[in-house]
Amino acid sequence: MNEHARPLTLSERADELEEQMMQALNEHIITKSVLFRMADGRVEIDNGQALLAANSGKHFLMGADPRLPEMPEKPTLIDFFKARFAPTSHMLQSATHALKGGHSEKVVLSCLLHDIGVASFIRCDHGYWGAQMIEPYVEEEVSWAVRMHQALRFFPNPSVGYEYPQMYVKFFGADYRPEPYIVAEYERARNHKWYMSARLITLNDIYSFDPDAKVDLNDFVDIIGRNFKQPKEGLGFDNSPSAHMWRTLMWPTRFL
Ligand SMILES: [Fe+2]
Ligand SMILES: [Fe+2]
Repeated sequence: MNEHARPLTLSERADELEEQMMQALNEHIITKSVLFRMADGRVEIDNGQALLAANSGKHFLMGADPRLPEMPEKPTLIDFFKARFAPTSHMLQSATHALKGGHSEKVVLSCLLHDIGVASFIRCDHGYWGAQMIEPYVEEEVSWAVRMHQALRFFPNPSVGYEYPQMYVKFFGADYRPEPYIVAEYERARNHKWYMSARLITLNDIYSFDPDAKVDLNDFVDIIGRNFKQPKEGLGFDNSPSAHMWRTLMWPTRFL
């Protein structure tokens, strides 16, 4: 049967509606990256020519998405916290816990940033994404700890009081076993001189899921100022190895 002859499925109709709404909202045509749709279980990309033809006189969006909070010209980490990170209370609680525990600013910063991969970008391999984003701007130990906390989360260390999270049994089932690459990463991390830096993220992480806790980003502005090398050009414009990641967060729907 001809692809185009079959009736639209419900989800296709919803997409079509969404697309019309998007187009009505904007002077520009806004289309989605492949990854956005993959999360809906489809490996697809819009046909650019067809979208152009259906929206005569319009062009694809190549700048800021007007539906998203405005970003300043030279955005700082704090700006991303406010305008591009989904609720950050979990990270703030974790950092507050580390602060109260009397840990170093390096540890507090690691806790504050440990899940920015999830909060801004993507769940899968969030430790790696998050570490890559911050690597040019923090001490190596901080980004290393953020990367490794992902693997360490799955492995108990009773000698420092870390048990396998009961929440993971609920999330993933009692039979879940981490992928071999996570096991191998854990083995490497366990023998590393900075092991405890990553372990401390997991120790401060696990107690920090309280929806009513009062947390405030302002409590961490000074620690960020002293420990995160904010580029004067703004995150995204400093030509660092991760500048493109910050730009992608700033303009997630840019056509190219
Ligand atoms: Fe995490
Ligand atoms: Fe976390």
